[in-house]
Amino acid sequence: MSVHIAAKKGEIAKTVLQPGDPLRAKFIADNYLSEVKLVSKTRNIYYYTGLFKGKEISVGASGMGIPSIGIYSYELYSEFDVETIIRIGTCGAYTNELKLFDVLNVQNAASESTYAKFAWGIEGELIENQGKSFEKINETANELAINIKSVNIHTSDIFYRKDPAIPAVAEKYNCPAVEMEAFALFANAKYLGKNASTILTVSDIIPTREQISADERETALRKMMELALESALK
Ligand code: HPA
Repeated sequence: MSVHIAAKKGEIAKTVLQPGDPLRAKFIADNYLSEVKLVSKTRNIYYYTGLFKGKEISVGASGMGIPSIGIYSYELYSEFDVETIIRIGTCGAYTNELKLFDVLNVQNAASESTYAKFAWGIEGELIENQGKSFEKINETANELAINIKSVNIHTSDIFYRKDPAIPAVAEKYNCPAVEMEAFALFANAKYLGKNASTILTVSDIIPTREQISADERETALRKMMELALESALK
């Protein structure tokens, strides 16, 4: 048991899928896993462990933002011996070069955040995905004929801001989209020598304010969930 995850040692699989939203974790457990066991309920951030095509997988939310994923991913890696975390989330596109529903595999996360520096002494604004998971996602997408783009993304602490200009760090590292977690996940994995990747679906185009609707969300996110699950088998 760790501070924020009440599972017992051995109740979490070596590979964890981590959406931001607890209801999305439940959706994956209900729709894709068999022999599912609810292993943690702390703060309503439910973690489930079950089988996908015979392989043990866990799924549980990261919550929103760097501090939240910083806590959950750290405890998964260090207290439960998790080897691989695949974050599955949504992102906002900075330009209409990306389209709604596009699926992205995150090569590097760029951030103004001091998290990596002050937590682990990792300097710099850019952290790469860690280990082999990123490549496995690309291979799997290829096999499933899912169109996926490898990109850098901006991990921001800010969802609402007054200035609509693209933030400097996003410009500097050619980040076409923004989310709020990958940088901390990659930092934790880098420090601990673990695997971490992030698959994102474009849920909104910031300059035009286009958004995928609540109804479209489920089908759109299913593609990303299936890609994450299939690549977790490798
Ligand atoms: N900003 C940050 N994170 C996001 C966004 C956004 O516009 N859309 C989806 N996740």
